[in-house]
Amino acid sequence: MASPLALFFLLLLLHRPLFSTANVHKLNLLRSELLSDPTLQNDPAPTLFFEVTKPIELPKTKPCTQLVLQHDFGYTYGKAPVFAKYTPPSHCPSQTYSRIVLEWKATCKGRQFDRIFGVWLGGVELLRSCTAEPRPNGIVWSVEKDITRYYSLLQNSQTLAVYIGNLIDKTYTGIYHVNISIHFYPAEKSLNYNYEKKLGNLASGYHSWADLILPISRNLPLNDGLWFKIQNSTDTQWKVFDVPQNVYRAVLEVYVSFHENDEFWYSNAPNEYIAANNLSGTPGNGPFREVVVSLDGEVVGAVWPFTVIFTGGVNPLLWRPITAIGSYDLPSYDIEITPFLGKILDGKSHKFGFSVTSALNVWYVDANLHLWLDKQSMKTEGGLLKHSSLPLVVSLVSDFKGLNGTFLTRVGRSVSSTGWVKSSYGNITTNAIQDFHYSNTMVMRNDANTQIVSQKIHFNDTLHIRPPSSSAYSMSSNKKFPLYLYTDYLDQANETYKLVTNVELGFIEKKSASAGSQLSGSSVRNLQNAEGNMVVKNNLVASGLGSTQQVYRYDGGKSCYFRNISSSNYTILYDKVRSTCGQKPESNLDFGLSRLWPFGAQRNFPGPLFT
Ligand SMILES: *[C@@H]1O[C@H](CO)[C@@H](O)[C@H](O)[C@H]1NC(C)=O
Ligand SMILES: *[C@@H]1O[C@H](CO)[C@@H](O)[C@H](O)[C@H]1NC(C)=O
Ligand SMILES: *[C@@H]1O[C@H](CO)[C@@H](O)[C@H](O)[C@H]1NC(C)=O
Ligand SMILES: *[C@@H]1O[C@H](CO)[C@@H](O)[C@H](O)[C@H]1NC(C)=O
Ligand SMILES: *[C@@H]1O[C@H](CO)[C@@H](O)[C@H](O)[C@H]1NC(C)=O
Ligand SMILES: *[C@@H]1O[C@H](CO)[C@@H](O)[C@H](O)[C@H]1NC(C)=O
Ligand SMILES: *[C@@H]1O[C@H](CO)[C@@H](O)[C@H](O)[C@H]1NC(C)=O
Ligand SMILES: *[C@@H]1O[C@H](CO)[C@@H](O)[C@H](O)[C@H]1NC(C)=O
Ligand SMILES: *[C@@H]1O[C@H](CO)[C@@H](O)[C@H](O)[C@H]1NC(C)=O
Repeated sequence: MASPLALFFLLLLLHRPLFSTANVHKLNLLRSELLSDPTLQNDPAPTLFFEVTKPIELPKTKPCTQLVLQHDFGYTYGKAPVFAKYTPPSHCPSQTYSRIVLEWKATCKGRQFDRIFGVWLGGVELLRSCTAEPRPNGIVWSVEKDITRYYSLLQNSQTLAVYIGNLIDKTYTGIYHVNISIHFYPAEKSLNYNYEKKLGNLASGYHSWADLILPISRNLPLNDGLWFKIQNSTDTQWKVFDVPQNVYRAVLEVYVSFHENDEFWYSNAPNEYIAANNLSGTPGNGPFREVVVSLDGEVVGAVWPFTVIFTGGVNPLLWRPITAIGSYDLPSYDIEITPFLGKILDGKSHKFGFSVTSALNVWYVDANLHLWLDKQSMKTEGGLLKHSSLPLVVSLVSDFKGLNGTFLTRVGRSVSSTGWVKSSYGNITTNAIQDFHYSNTMVMRNDANTQIVSQKIHFNDTLHIRPPSSSAYSMSSNKKFPLYLYTDYLDQANETYKLVTNVELGFIEKKSASAGSQLSGSSVRNLQNAEGNMVVKNNLVASGLGSTQQVYRYDGGKSCYFRNISSSNYTILYDKVRSTCGQKPESNLDFGLSRLWPFGAQRNFPGPLFT
């Protein structure tokens, strides 16, 4: 039996040490390193790796920069995170910032696996990411992340923690040399002036970011990162927390990544197929996963994660130098908790729980609770009016004979909650709805030497806010995550095999908001297509080729971004960038609606008006 599933057993025989990133999966055998790298002879300089994404829109002011951490991550697996002291910038002429950017910059040389890492400030996760895989001549890469939504956290001294589970031995020599800086961009004067003038009194004390952010992560001390580890489908991880009694809005931001047996969860076979073919030890539980979030034991929302492929995933040659969507900056997901505030404003402790449906070892999950406080009162009150969270609707149609077969999995979920909160802004009712739909078609051919996965996730969030006197306000985010994965395994005897792979990956999101007759919205379409092959001998890539094409489109009405880029065999074939919007009419809204509305909301918040 020389199927992709068999690769799993092959891997077990190799007795590799345990990595914090995935290592026990058929596709993970492909997390092999290059035996030789012929392209290097022509190019002794370090290679720049990057993720294609929209550059952060920055004000025209000069930033104040703080270097927060400079560290070399060698053998760090199983050790405590690296800590650094963070103090707010004191040397800045202005103390109000309109944009704050975290910059991770790293170099590495030698041979190393892709390692998952996290950056926390005061226990609040700021970045979940994956390292790039080095080359013998060295690589360099950076991640810039807009962390303005953590403004309140950044106003106080905090401990910064970074955890990477890296291993160093004779073969895997890569040490990650890392600098973390934070850039504070002072607000532009004119903008600030207009902003104050326009909003008048309403503006005082209101920002689109939360007033307080509570870490819903693991407590110190620890030795394997501040995320919770979820190891199976019955494992629930809890965090007890207390909120101040004058909260008027709450949003839970969830970070998630999947590893080892579940790194490629979308390609895991159904258990009945595994049992019928005696494939004990092969990662199973079918291809559907979701993170379920509960508050005091009641389901308040879910996350159906984007299928991030790490830098060594499927075929490492696909991701050099253009990395897979989201791999350097994994998306986080917001769940509106405002309807449930009535339950947690009692001055007592409560708990959030996290579990993963059908999970296999291991998922890393934690969260940040963003809280908006009523400055005019010591106590707000609230009540839950309606809450419905129906059980998952799952359908699996299996048709297989031996190792050949077709499996169709469809899943749906809907969570809706309505609650009121009375604060100095009046009695405001919030209705939050999450709608999910999932479909996965998996085909095993050629006695499972060929596996084809075609998956679609639809993930909708809608929020309706009804204040007592003004008109209702609503916002929505519609996400689509298409994925196509083709792998073909050819045994070539002598511990050698050839693998042909094709990946299509998409992150598509439309956001819209309305307040009375005012409308605004934005859209992102980020599509990748990668194909490659490689010959692997004794777990090392003896030869191979990877090519990737990517088209990124963002339309925010006033600001747009387009990039069409392609690489093959480490070389960029073309790269077209455009940042104009074409013929669309200019917006007449000077500011995002978040500025006009005290309930702010980084969450789902679109840019200025379009169409
Ligand atoms: C990749 O590029 C290297 C150096 O530029 C070249 O030697 C090699 O033949 C190329 N590989 C393929 C499969 O085109
Ligand atoms: C980190 O900063 C130091 C000091 O500024 C610099 O010498 C080094 O090259 C930087 N490293 C990276 C990876 O940017
Ligand atoms: C699931 O994981 C938890 C936490 O590691 C463990 O205590 C429990 O025994 C596991 N359950 C099963 C069925 O493996
Ligand atoms: C699976 O194992 C059982 C028990 O060893 C055996 O009877 C059966 O024929 C095996 N099935 C396959 C498909 O190998
Ligand atoms: C706030 O409004 C809701 C819905 O209309 C109502 O059920 C609740 O009693 C009101 N609360 C207060 C304190 O007036
Ligand atoms: C999400 O919203 C879009 C647009 O309103 C709709 O077409 C789609 O069916 C919704 N999807 C789900 C899963 O509810
Ligand atoms: C599976 O399909 C291949 C052709 O794709 C065929 O050669 C093989 O006999 C099939 N196996 C079974 C058990 O039907
Ligand atoms: C396997 O390797 C041995 C020794 O290197 C060689 O003699 C043999 O011909 C190889 N077999 C195949 C099928 O390539
Ligand atoms: C991207 O550029 C390639 C090469 O010029 C071209 O064939 C392709 O149509 C372009 N795609 C888009 C969406 O513009």
